Amino acid sequence: MHQGDTKTCNTTRDNAQNCKASDAREASDAREAGEGAFARLVRASRTYRRFDESRRLSADDLRALVDVARFAPTANNLQRLRFRLACDEGEVARCLAHHKWAALLADWDGPAAGERPVAYIAVCAPVGSAKSAIPNIDAGIAAQTIMLAARTRGLGGCMVKSFDAGLDDDLGLREQGLECLVLLALGHPAEKVVLEEAGEKGAVRYWRDEDDVHHVPKLSLDELIV
Ligand SMILES: Cc1cc2nc3c(=O)[nH]c(=O)nc-3n(C[C@H](O)[C@H](O)[C@H](O)COP(=O)(O)O)c2cc1C
Repeated sequence: MHQGDTKTCNTTRDNAQNCKASDAREASDAREAGEGAFARLVRASRTYRRFDESRRLSADDLRALVDVARFAPTANNLQRLRFRLACDEGEVARCLAHHKWAALLADWDGPAAGERPVAYIAVCAPVGSAKSAIPNIDAGIAAQTIMLAARTRGLGGCMVKSFDAGLDDDLGLREQGLECLVLLALGHPAEKVVLEEAGEKGAVRYWRDEDDVHHVPKLSLDELIV
């Protein structure tokens, strides 16, 4: 499918037949793009925690990602998620101060100066949502959609749940009646990440080798199918 070519059927303008034709065209575009291309995108969309900090992102860059995610499904089509964009250095530093990195890399304190994220998107919902499953599911779908959209633009990032309660205040979310459900750290990746087969007995701990390559074990298809 061509970027930005999403068709919206407006019942006042388009008759049902036009909608059907447009639907079929989109389905055929998607088929042409090939399942292979989509699977490759998903595989290439890894978690990145080190970035080229000299390459900044603008609010428009972040808006373009949310513009993709706004078409993602939400329960009952309620669309209660809101997206707080942070790309100026002060706000990025404030986000950074409120979360942790890579719990499994015990001797790594997070990215050094020069390799930190250059932007964040806080996926938010009305205060009180964090304790309910459905808003968190909506947020997860939106988060992955943003990450995939980011990857198509040469960007990468990390979904972050290990943020503290101070984030909401520092981003001015509380005063808008919102809280962050998942935080997305973004930038131009500056690290090598490789996928590998999970170890024996389903060992899935990610790890870094002596060349600083980040390894992410994944279970096999047969292990997943029940
Ligand atoms: C819901 C969720 C929360 C996460 N929270 C954090 C986090 O707080 N800090 C972090 O460094 N990584 C976090 N991650 C990234 C995971 O560690 C990462 O997805 C996992 O190691 C697998 O790597 P992959 O994304 O390349 O498949 C989170 C991922 C998800 C999906």
